[in-house]
Amino acid sequence: MEKEIKRIAVLTSGGDASGMNAAVRAVCRSAIAKGLDIFGVNRGYEGLITGDLFKMDLRSVSEILHRGGTMLYSARCPEFKTKEGIERGVRTCKQFGIDGIVVIGGDGSFRGARDLSLAGIPCIGIPATIDNDISCSDYTIGVDTALNTIIDSVDKIRDTSHSHDRCSLVEVMGRHCGYLALNAGIATGAMAILVPEKELDFQHDIVERMQFTRGIGKKHFIILVAEGVDYPGGIAQMAKDIEEATGVVTKTTVLGYVQRGGSPTAKDRIVATKMGVTAVHLLAQGIGNRVVVMNGEKIVDYDIKEALKMKKAFDDELYTLSHEISI
Ligand code: ADP
Ligand code: F6P
Repeated sequence: MEKEIKRIAVLTSGGDASGMNAAVRAVCRSAIAKGLDIFGVNRGYEGLITGDLFKMDLRSVSEILHRGGTMLYSARCPEFKTKEGIERGVRTCKQFGIDGIVVIGGDGSFRGARDLSLAGIPCIGIPATIDNDISCSDYTIGVDTALNTIIDSVDKIRDTSHSHDRCSLVEVMGRHCGYLALNAGIATGAMAILVPEKELDFQHDIVERMQFTRGIGKKHFIILVAEGVDYPGGIAQMAKDIEEATGVVTKTTVLGYVQRGGSPTAKDRIVATKMGVTAVHLLAQGIGNRVVVMNGEKIVDYDIKEALKMKKAFDDELYTLSHEISI
């Protein structure tokens, strides 16, 4: 698909992620460098439906590179999953003369971009979510910042856990995906890592492992739990059950939104900038309906429909390795 593109828009959608601002900045400045008009859309697809757009210039994106969150705000917009919602989005594009859109967000946002592309508005998706759960990309903007925040927090929790010979149960984000728990677990030396991809055997995975490691001199225990792990009563109940089964005082910490915000790391700023520029270069050539993603360390682009069919495997090797090393 190729058509002349003169005026584009950029939006952020779904859960915010550190580095989204860096991507917005790159899209805006790269578009202007290419001689395109650029509009910002507030609150993702909601703003597209209601016509909440504004013209950007080079200074519109000053002082945002180092900030978490998104200057364009984000939203979840159920209406965009309907035919009427897409039609309203297309109408807004016609009204503002928008020829193409850069959508920065997760898997759900990519589905919206696919539907908008099918309705005749060329879109380019840029992956941004702390979960790293977009199948077509090895990396999503925000992951490195989130991981480093988790590591920083768990290192602090470890000091207290160690000083009091306690067990610390730390819940990290990941409703459907254990990437953050697994990788943060490796980086913080967690004795156990609980992820939604693996069925939990409480007795084997936690109680027996604690008893075994205690038998070989371990005095305190860090357990990382992805929020998507299904345990009746949640981690509060899990802590009580651990205490009852092992006698070790067990405390819980839910890291929550601490993981989503904050100043992006070098990696997130650089990847976001490269992806933003690549997205604009595609649109400037009249190419739409693509996603700009990471394949290994390389930035590549795929057809959006094909990209949404891809599957990503859980890293079993890393999971197994954690059992050998964090003991
Ligand atoms: P993320 O993009 O982080 O995965 P969501 O899954 O909440 O976050 O999706 C963000 C938004 O993308 C939704 O609120 C909705 O507006 C849009 N969206 C999600 N799924 C679809 C879909 N199947 N079709 C069209 N739009 C969708
Ligand atoms: O950004 C992804 C994510 O953090 C998931 O891990 C989590 O389940 C979800 O967002 C929660 O988002 P919200 O609180 O905005 O619904």
